[in-house]
Amino acid sequence: MHPLAAAVAQSPDTDGVVLLAPADVFETLAVVAESGLDVRCVMLDPWYNKGVGGVTDDEEYDRFVLDLLAAAGAIADHVYLWGFPEIMARFMTRFPAPLELVAWLTWYYKNNPSVIRGWRSAQMTCLHLGRPGARLYPEHFLNEAQLALKAQGKLRYMPGPPSVIEAALLVGFIGRAEQTGHPAQKPVNAIEPLLKMVLAPGELVVDPMCGSGTTGAAARALGATAILADGSAEYTALVENRLGVQAITLDPPRLLG
Ligand SMILES: C[S@@+](CC[C@H](N)C(=O)[O-])C[C@H]1O[C@@H](n2cnc3c(N)ncnc32)[C@H](O)[C@@H]1O
Repeated sequence: MHPLAAAVAQSPDTDGVVLLAPADVFETLAVVAESGLDVRCVMLDPWYNKGVGGVTDDEEYDRFVLDLLAAAGAIADHVYLWGFPEIMARFMTRFPAPLELVAWLTWYYKNNPSVIRGWRSAQMTCLHLGRPGARLYPEHFLNEAQLALKAQGKLRYMPGPPSVIEAALLVGFIGRAEQTGHPAQKPVNAIEPLLKMVLAPGELVVDPMCGSGTTGAAARALGATAILADGSAEYTALVENRLGVQAITLDPPRLLG
């Protein structure tokens, strides 16, 4: 068995989370591809080319993101891509096949401290991309009354969750217990609905730029499985601490082929 597949098979021991030793995103995606694992979803939350994480030339950034989408789309049914709306807009006509747009999602936070005069940024975009016909689970969002109607065959249509997800930014005293010190940590409440839409319990999400490990925390809450990695040793240690797991070095350490 491929060493990554073996680690995933043992993931119930770590409450569904497999954390890899620090690795570049393309290396992680290549190892996952090679493992042959059945991946439902890849979460892509790179630095934004705006603010924290630094800024590079637009053309270079776009090439990086398009390469990421191609590598993620080759292994998963669903891909989420995070960024600021004015940057995400540039990709709307450029998704590499077989990916197509499922939804333009907005994370809305009204508690961003105002540091400039004028409009105060209160949103990030998450593009939901998928292979044609990729399975969605809107039924995971039904409340008890709707589930009862469904069981009786009386649910006339399947209501979907809104495409705007409201969750407070983890800043100051807000979400203090959840804060890890990572400079771009997203709240679990912003990530959980994304996973809920595409994962059944036990299904697999990969987050190869996992930062503080929010995708792992959200996957756990849903009984799903997560493979996490980040290029930074500092953030990998932070995830170990947050999720109570040890990063593993695959043996053999890199690609087998
Ligand atoms: C926006 S943050 C992710 C935040 C994360 N979603 C969370 O909630 O904590 C981007 C992360 O990507 C990682 N990263 C950036 N470039 C990378 C690369 N080439 N390979 C692997 N990780 C990378 C950074 O170290 C950083 O932790």
